[in-house]
Amino acid sequence: MNSKIKHIAVITSGGDAPGMNAAIRAVTRVSLHHDLKVTGIIGGYSGLIQGQFINLDMSSMANILKHGGTILKTGRSAEFMQASSRTEAFQQLQGAGIDAFVCIGGDGSFTGAHQLFQEHGFPFVGVPATIDNDIYGTDYTIGFDTAVNIALDAIDRIRDTASSHDRLFIVEVMGHDSGFIAVDVGVAGGAEEIFFPENPIAIEQAIEHIKRSMARGKKSSILVTAEGKKPGRAYDLAEAIRKRAGFEAKVCVLGHIQRGGAPTARDRILASRLGAHAVEKIIQGESDIMIGMQAEKLVTHKLASVLGKKKQIPNDLIKLAQILSA
Ligand code: F6P
Repeated sequence: MNSKIKHIAVITSGGDAPGMNAAIRAVTRVSLHHDLKVTGIIGGYSGLIQGQFINLDMSSMANILKHGGTILKTGRSAEFMQASSRTEAFQQLQGAGIDAFVCIGGDGSFTGAHQLFQEHGFPFVGVPATIDNDIYGTDYTIGFDTAVNIALDAIDRIRDTASSHDRLFIVEVMGHDSGFIAVDVGVAGGAEEIFFPENPIAIEQAIEHIKRSMARGKKSSILVTAEGKKPGRAYDLAEAIRKRAGFEAKVCVLGHIQRGGAPTARDRILASRLGAHAVEKIIQGESDIMIGMQAEKLVTHKLASVLGKKKQIPNDLIKLAQILSA
């Protein structure tokens, strides 16, 4: 055991993801198990710059496991992108006697922690949490499974009304510039077409597809689209389909609904394992790394080896999605 580590902090940063609380709980309880002091940083990196800290103990963890969101609050801090703000953050951490922190978040949050480490040598370990599942070096991120299940439930419901009215629907899911949610939800929900950034399809192709389905007697269809870099693009798709083929499509943008609610068992377990492992690694003296889960095994990666790398959707899943939706 690295006796230098006596005091660990935990922060959530970036978009909240269901399961973040389970990760906070694992970090806190495992740290307490090792007789470490635990501090929660409130409000992401902005809170860190301002020194918004609270003491975390067993009682602060009561009943948080089943709740979405994050008890520590979160944010996307533009301030933290400036070196001077990171210096202030470093001073706050030092002033509070914190030895290392666990950063629960996505790529942007890890970049900030990595910069802090490079500039001031302050130790941290990253725990990947985002509904987008777009972090290189881990098969799954905390929150993804819950988001997919929420979107799937919505699609099943839309299917009922779509088939009752013989309607065409376009359902937009989140994911920023990646299509993990769209592909999983499209396959699991039997979508007739899936639009996602990694495999762009021409609108004409989608229209041909709808026409072929109609010729086979299909009267209702659900097209799933990833939001891509432009949330609300489902409306553009509906307009393009109306203009070119004359089909009216109903649009349903699921948006932030996918980020809320109770985390699935899978997300709670993933978050617990990643959070616990992060503490173990900090105690062992490791830093500037991210914990991941690959092929059901806990792994660690140097941040520099994963940052900025694009995680690929497995090719076989993309092919299968095409075959099943045809
Ligand atoms: O990164 C998670 C995510 O939900 C993306 O899917 C989405 O594009 C983005 O966050 C929305 O961010 P915000 O809640 O800041 O609008």
